[in-house]
Amino acid sequence: MRLPDPALVVLVGASGSGKSTWAGARFRAPEIVSSDALRGIAGSGPHDLDASEDAFGLLETIVAARLGRGLTTVVDTLGTDTVRRRGWLAAARSAGLPAVVVVMETPDAECRRRNATRDRPVPAPVLASQLATVRTLRPDLEGEGWDVVVAVTDAAAALPDPVAEPVTRSGRRPAPDRVGSHGVRVVLQVSRFPWGEDPLAWLGEVTRAADGAGFAGVALMDHLIQIPTVGRAWEPIPEPWVTLGALAALDTELELGTLCTPVTFRPAGITAKAAATLSALTGGRCFVGIGAGWWEREHAAFGLPFPPDRDRLDELERAILTLRALWAAGTKAYDDGEVVLPETTCYPRPAASIPVIVGGSGERRTLRIAARLGDACNLRTTDTEQLRHKVAVLRDHCAAVGRDPADVAVTVLDLPVVGRDRDDVWARVERHRGRTPAAAYAARTRAGTLADHRARYAELAELGVSTVFMATPDLDGPDAVADLAGLTA
Ligand code: CTP
Ligand code: MG
Repeated sequence: MRLPDPALVVLVGASGSGKSTWAGARFRAPEIVSSDALRGIAGSGPHDLDASEDAFGLLETIVAARLGRGLTTVVDTLGTDTVRRRGWLAAARSAGLPAVVVVMETPDAECRRRNATRDRPVPAPVLASQLATVRTLRPDLEGEGWDVVVAVTDAAAALPDPVAEPVTRSGRRPAPDRVGSHGVRVVLQVSRFPWGEDPLAWLGEVTRAADGAGFAGVALMDHLIQIPTVGRAWEPIPEPWVTLGALAALDTELELGTLCTPVTFRPAGITAKAAATLSALTGGRCFVGIGAGWWEREHAAFGLPFPPDRDRLDELERAILTLRALWAAGTKAYDDGEVVLPETTCYPRPAASIPVIVGGSGERRTLRIAARLGDACNLRTTDTEQLRHKVAVLRDHCAAVGRDPADVAVTVLDLPVVGRDRDDVWARVERHRGRTPAAAYAARTRAGTLADHRARYAELAELGVSTVFMATPDLDGPDAVADLAGLTA
């Protein structure tokens, strides 16, 4: 079972029921606020009952501080004090965090057995009263207002949640279509280029690693200046078609293309020519992500006009029509009323049909253009509700323009933080968050382990997503790419 995260998690169970063991297998040490541990800090040790009042004072302070920051907080106490328990629940509510209560349902005899083998067993009558309290408490919890009530039976308690799945680094030949068992294809978007002294070598290693890791393709951003959400303006961001030409020379099975090329950068005919050439060079492994462009600064800096939204969206439509006209068989004149070309002589011909992926989530025009002219749309959200809504809008546009929705694939851009385990995930969050509060950054980047992201990709597949374009802030070289292999299988 996947618990909400971030969340308040309150443990309830008698001594020896396995609360601390359960929490320790699932959460990072700093996330667990334990009354025993705080007795050991405010007092002489975990069993120093004289330090209880101080320990609980500290516990309340720490719980309030963490919840206030939106950080996952696991409260490891007996959990039987109803006033305290309800107080934590209220604090989670006011912090906007989901609240989970975990009741240990370890058999009484097992608790007694474990208790007896401990260095400092709890006196038998005390344990008996704890067990009785937990038993009577159990029905109350259902009505207390928790978002999730988890009952941990002893067998489940012994099992840690799945952590990072095994990573296959080599000798792996995925199905040619490279759909993972979660139901989506994963394309690596390379957006940062810390390539040191040998750009071509770095690009080659990263791309071969992506192929080896089972990615379906490599996508390059098309920007003239590195965008602020990815890096600094003085960091390299290479021209994508030139760069894709270099990647085409590698012996891989990857699809190669842009995500997304703005129609404002090049006349559509030139993009048609570049993509047809790339298709010819790769034996048909080319796609074109295309959009209306959005960043005024790079246009100004490079001497390019940046017309109003409406005009750029008009141009997006004309551009897709132009691509399709020039890629079509033959050389005949083309005139659809919007685009007029005296001839469509474009050689080399693409080696296979080139998918056009329309980038952007604008509901009135962009998704309509995707429905009318795209092979796919690319949405910038992976949020379930938003995605459900956007897909519904796309389907409505398909109906309005008479297109079979099955012909317009749904793809998403995903910018996750991916770690080996919980500690690694949070170390990465801390490294990348800048001035953004950790919890907000983790939420925005869906920070999690490979297993977390695989589960998320399965959910995206259920929502109708066929391809996830993913870019991580940690992509500094081939090893980082190889570490992502568990995402694609
Ligand atoms: N244990 C076990 N198998 C489990 C869970 C726990 O063998 N599935 C053992 C632990 O190794 C420990 C003892 O049972 O020696 C008590 O587990 P612990 O997690 O410490 O229990 P708590 O509920 O945290 O007990 P307390 O309230 O005393 O802190
Ligand atoms: Mg404990």
